[in-house]
Amino acid sequence: MKNILNAPFVEEMKKTCSNMYRLGWDERNGGNISYMLDEAEVAEYLDLGNVIRTIPTGFDATPLIGKIFIVTGTGKYFKNVEDDPENNLGIIRIAKDGTTTELLWGYRDGGKFTSEFPAHLMSHMARLEVDPKNRVVIHSHPTNILAMNYVHELDEKKFTHTLWEMCTECIVIFPEGIGILPWMLCGNNDIGYATAEKMHDFRVVVWGMHGVYGAGKDLDETFGLIETVEKAAQIFMLTAHLPRINTIRDDELRTLAEAFGVDYRKDFLD
Ligand code: 13P
Ligand code: ZN
Repeated sequence: MKNILNAPFVEEMKKTCSNMYRLGWDERNGGNISYMLDEAEVAEYLDLGNVIRTIPTGFDATPLIGKIFIVTGTGKYFKNVEDDPENNLGIIRIAKDGTTTELLWGYRDGGKFTSEFPAHLMSHMARLEVDPKNRVVIHSHPTNILAMNYVHELDEKKFTHTLWEMCTECIVIFPEGIGILPWMLCGNNDIGYATAEKMHDFRVVVWGMHGVYGAGKDLDETFGLIETVEKAAQIFMLTAHLPRINTIRDDELRTLAEAFGVDYRKDFLD
């Protein structure tokens, strides 16, 4: 059996958490990540018959029965994942009843998966219906996306349109736009259902006055997606109080989307 601490997926989680922490997106225990793993790959590092303990989820994840995820722990700091992955991360499998998880590794101090697990697993289920390659869901509190929530209308069309205007690549990276939920109580099934509903149409969902969810096929792609939205929000915040004398016009956005062959939300242009 190989050493789990050298597994590429543990390394990737460590690097992603450290990068997000250093970007200032994940203060204290802010943010969480879930990453669906390949069973055969995990079996090189762990005895899949050895369940350390079971942890109930409080919702039905039947479509994910048998799937294995590496997930950040609740109350754990992204800052600390790199030095102590076994306490701050866990590898869990969705049990046969669909409502319990089997801990295969991690959460060594008796901890459990993120309090946002409902939104994560429900988002995985929603994204997998649209894109069978989806494996990652990331929740984060990026500074400028959050700042923009206080000074920009939380309207999906207007918010997306503003971000598309901020960097030439935006419409190419997130052509389907940004889904938005109003402020809601977090850490429960209701916000999970609401997030998953948006995830049918969007890979990025803003939680009003809280943060953002992103989904994608791997950690790099999902991180890069949030990074691009955050960069656009930063340009907006750096310029919002200044007279605007230039912009990317709608006909230019259309030209861009067509040149790159992306299926964009035409109704989000004026
Ligand atoms: P957890 O510590 O439970 O992952 O919660 C962090 C967070 O960002 C809540 O929205
Ligand atoms: Zn949060």
